[in-house]
Amino acid sequence: MSVANTIEICQPDDWHLHVRDGDILPDLILHTSSQFARAIIMPNLKPPVTTAELALAYKQRILDARPLGSSFEPLMVLYLTDNTTAEHVKNAKKAGVVGFKLYPAGATTNSDAGVTDLAKCSTALVEMESCGMPLLVHGEVTHADIDIFDREAVFIDQVLEPLRKNYPGLKVIFEHITTKQAAHYVRDADTSRLGAIGATITPQHLLYNRNAIFSGGVRPHYYCLPILKREEHRVALVEVAISGNPRFFLGTDSAPHTKDTKENACGCAGCYTAWHAMPLYAEAFDAANALDRLEGFASHFGADFYGLSRNTGKLTLKRQQQVIPKEFSIADSKVVPLRAGEMLAWSIVG
Ligand code: NCD
Ligand code: ZN
Repeated sequence: MSVANTIEICQPDDWHLHVRDGDILPDLILHTSSQFARAIIMPNLKPPVTTAELALAYKQRILDARPLGSSFEPLMVLYLTDNTTAEHVKNAKKAGVVGFKLYPAGATTNSDAGVTDLAKCSTALVEMESCGMPLLVHGEVTHADIDIFDREAVFIDQVLEPLRKNYPGLKVIFEHITTKQAAHYVRDADTSRLGAIGATITPQHLLYNRNAIFSGGVRPHYYCLPILKREEHRVALVEVAISGNPRFFLGTDSAPHTKDTKENACGCAGCYTAWHAMPLYAEAFDAANALDRLEGFASHFGADFYGLSRNTGKLTLKRQQQVIPKEFSIADSKVVPLRAGEMLAWSIVG
């Protein structure tokens, strides 16, 4: 079998990205926009992006931070809270917001304002069902008595399945899935009775298992939420990602934190992958002999799921080694990328 050394694909989109706010925006947008045409911008700012007005203002700050001549398009998502109403959903729809994000309160970075009880947002969820507004979910339960490695699997039974049954028209994206249970739940979901379901997968969950967090010592730059799982889970994620099933698509969850807040006695959760996301995904697909499936996963299925047109531009990747920088100077802080200082097997051409 011949081995591809260069691949050209339709330009990809990132369906789950954190770019924060303020003077770090230009560098972060530069990294993302050199690979991706569009990205869904996560709303977990402090304070969170909860209304159409806040989203439009945030979107404008991102547009202003783009490199000269860039046509990168931020797609905005609102943060669901206990106080989100049907009116918020209607206004969001009018403003071109593409979804709402469910953060169970306390599940991850800046999730304090998250939902404490889904019954509280019932009118909003009904409106989302009727106007076709998708719900993006951070799929982890937060009870202290549930083991951190089990939080996603328990979420499926305790929250996700009941939610889909209570709102059978609701379109759901199970964000950054990390387990065999989530991969199989999405793969096997019967969408003839319940709403459509999709899932995003990060590069770190395709490339690493939980050993990466502890190899030779604690490695804070491999700590993200949901946390990396056992090898059997990584294998199951690769299996669905390369399967050609359009329910599974790319979402980096690139989540910058400053070096000092990661390398800390209580380090923040999040891996920074925006600079090298596509080479990382290419490596994962290549290792599974499935480079021919990368384009669907990275460039077609997400757009199709959100009902948006596919991109017309192209992205070319080449099998060419490069070193990942040890850190980036971004505004007046340092951000350490995933696999910092080590080799990357693929590079972006141009
Ligand atoms: C994200 C962040 O830092 O905003 N962190 C992470 O570990 N993934 C939040 C999130 O998506 O859970
Ligand atoms: Zn995220």
